[in-house]
Amino acid sequence: MSNSRKVALQALLAVEASDAYLNLVLPKLIGSSKLSTPDAAFATELAYGTSRNQGFYDYVIEKAGGRKPSEIDTDVLCSIRMGTHQLLVLETPAHAAIFETVELVKRGLRGSAAGFTNAVMRKIAQFDLAGWLTILEEENLVSEDFQSIRFSHPIWVTRAIRLALESDGASEQLEEALNADNANPKVHLVKLPGKSADTSRLVPGPASPIGFTLESGDPSKFQGVADGAMRVQDQGSQLVTLALAQVKAIEPGEHWLDVCAGPGGKAVLLAALALPSGADLTTNEVTPHRATLVATALRHSGFEATQLVKDARALPESLQFDRIMLDAPCTGLGALRRRPESRWRKGEGNLKELTTLQRELLTAAWDHLKPGGILAYVTCSPHPAETTAQIEWFLRSRKDCALLDATEVFVKLNPELSLNPKRKTVQLWPHRNGTDAMFLALLQKSNG
Ligand SMILES: C[S@@+](CC[C@H](N)C(=O)[O-])C[C@H]1O[C@@H](n2cnc3c(N)ncnc32)[C@H](O)[C@@H]1O
Repeated sequence: MSNSRKVALQALLAVEASDAYLNLVLPKLIGSSKLSTPDAAFATELAYGTSRNQGFYDYVIEKAGGRKPSEIDTDVLCSIRMGTHQLLVLETPAHAAIFETVELVKRGLRGSAAGFTNAVMRKIAQFDLAGWLTILEEENLVSEDFQSIRFSHPIWVTRAIRLALESDGASEQLEEALNADNANPKVHLVKLPGKSADTSRLVPGPASPIGFTLESGDPSKFQGVADGAMRVQDQGSQLVTLALAQVKAIEPGEHWLDVCAGPGGKAVLLAALALPSGADLTTNEVTPHRATLVATALRHSGFEATQLVKDARALPESLQFDRIMLDAPCTGLGALRRRPESRWRKGEGNLKELTTLQRELLTAAWDHLKPGGILAYVTCSPHPAETTAQIEWFLRSRKDCALLDATEVFVKLNPELSLNPKRKTVQLWPHRNGTDAMFLALLQKSNG
């Protein structure tokens, strides 16, 4: 039995059993198993690909096995999901995929399930990916149910993405958008303004004027990253941070606040933009562990900021700022491509709690904004309940608030970006912009 398959299975089981994050647990398992570089790459592809396509694979497994996935023991189910990925996507020869999957199940002391596994794998191997897609199409499901299975997204996520695209006048892009969540994203880097780093081995873009793409390799080994001049950061995050900094000229003496700062990605970029212009930065984060990450990130890049560890809804009233970044806790539906397991973990049940918290944070942060000040409301989610609906609610409930044209600011940052010119808030998309699906609204407090 191959070690890489064993490692991938262990990672998937850790995700199932203890809510582990694949991007954290897998590198640890790869390290402790001392996999060679090609084996590590194979284990990563197996674990990530299986996790992303889980919804579709479960459909195939149910058809082939005649049992609902929920009726199959988790370790057996995860092994068969991995076997399905090998058969349908990696095009591993059927005999090898079947043999290795049955061995995995046997080694997991599930000898009794070996026969079932063998039978299901053989049935799956009767068709290739196109064949299974035809079987799915012939079910004539309503389009949302079909897309949910075909592109392996829970139905509520499929619906949320459809609604967000509809309100962007782009409902015909749903399949492209869902598909983009299933692609392997490249690592994005930011070169912090004012820092120097050798970027000659990097590809500029695709979206941020200070962003680069690392085609392959470990970013932490890259000199600029080790020096603190560059950081791993999705280019959507770079753009929303740049937009807050560049929406108007920075006056020396301005006070900036990153009110939900952990783990510090945007805080470091805000510091790089604020400090050289004579503005200062305060960061706040409620979770002590994440606040420590903010401190470490700032220190690594050589920046100083006032750091608070408080609930943003209870900051001292006297604190007043010219610019506030509110990167709100959200469902994270905009970063599904980077966190393959997250779509299966979050339920729609989280949404109500999150949207309530977002409103409370927005209201609280607004009280710390000076007259004339600007607040960036950001989510890493395109869900309308977390984005446009929140801004519409806030504009309705406040008389002292104006929505600035963030699209105009983005066009200045990068005229090549594909944006909807008819809206003032910005919704980025992986399939259109190559970034996570970040949302930005720029809100200005009136002077009087
Ligand atoms: C989307 S993340 C911020 C990401 C960060 N801006 C970055 O770019 O690295 C939201 C953060 O808000 C924090 N948070 C949640 N509730 C909060 C509260 N009531 N007050 C302050 N921070 C809170 C979470 O712990 C989380 O670290």
